[in-house]
Amino acid sequence: MFENIKKYALEVEIFASSKPEEIEQFRIKYLGKKGILNDLFAKFKEVPNEQKKEFGQQINNLKQSVTQKIEAMKESVSSQISSDSGLDLTRSGIPLNLGSRHPINVVRNKIINIFKKIGFSVADGPEIEDDWHNFTALNMSEFHPARDMQDTFFIEKHPDKVLRTHTSSVQIRYMEEHRPPIRILAPGRVYRNEDISARSHCMFHQIEGLYIDTQVSFADLKHTLQYFTSELFGKSEIRMRPSYFPFTEPSAEVDVYWGLETETDYRITKGTGWLEILGCGMVDPNVLTNVNIDPEKYSGFAFGMGIERIVMLMHQIGDIRVFTENDIRMLQQFSNEF
Ligand code: DAH
Repeated sequence: MFENIKKYALEVEIFASSKPEEIEQFRIKYLGKKGILNDLFAKFKEVPNEQKKEFGQQINNLKQSVTQKIEAMKESVSSQISSDSGLDLTRSGIPLNLGSRHPINVVRNKIINIFKKIGFSVADGPEIEDDWHNFTALNMSEFHPARDMQDTFFIEKHPDKVLRTHTSSVQIRYMEEHRPPIRILAPGRVYRNEDISARSHCMFHQIEGLYIDTQVSFADLKHTLQYFTSELFGKSEIRMRPSYFPFTEPSAEVDVYWGLETETDYRITKGTGWLEILGCGMVDPNVLTNVNIDPEKYSGFAFGMGIERIVMLMHQIGDIRVFTENDIRMLQQFSNEF
């Protein structure tokens, strides 16, 4: 009996050309709940004891053969489908070009790594900021003229909210949450309502630095910046020009001596050899008071720089707009930089 069923199942029923529905029907006929194999199992009880073992083996054997046949059929159907659809699984794939980091991120990471070596960590803050963090706590009260130095985007329905005009707001946020010693860098986007041109854009990037501890001096500031410029540009000759920022006193603008070796040096330094790279100063005692840090006990310095400007200097890029145009030809030039 078993031999007959097996022969029929394997040799007479369905062939390699069968459709998936036919295979399924075959499966149900033999392996389904009311299928032939279950019928045979039902007979098991009636089989005399001495034949039970052999009977059981025969059922298993049959089940195995049928299952194998189903598998083989299914396989041949799926390979038919893939060859019908013209899909050639032996072809090698289309290579995907590797992307590269944006030059702004490359330089930002370089700057972060330079300051990491001397104990600075990275802090973050929101780009939609309130008046307190962007202005007031930084020693710019409501009608302070210094607010005009930065053309601000206000949020119409929320007059207290602005798109942050500088990363200095992160100084306040961080000092509200942490006590000295503080050593942070805050990189991020900032916004100003400026006409877009080769030299200015309404969104750009800054990196802010803040160092607060006991007995921090102006000499510490100068040394730190010298270390920074020599690591980033390989140039450690800097000069500090007196300047004004509401949140630092005294304040300075820092130039690095770029040199006058090439024609480009002449052009970018306007023949002076010096390039302005950042603003800085000793944190104003009023700022410390605003965040409940005792200015009698603690002092510190802060600095802020525009990343675009630095990338433009390092790579002699003449137009700030290329950073946001997403032109792959421009971005590909930086594919070797990390
Ligand atoms: N926030 C200033 C700006 O956007 C840059 C700056 C100057 C940051 C002096 C500072 C600083 O921390 O001490 O123009």
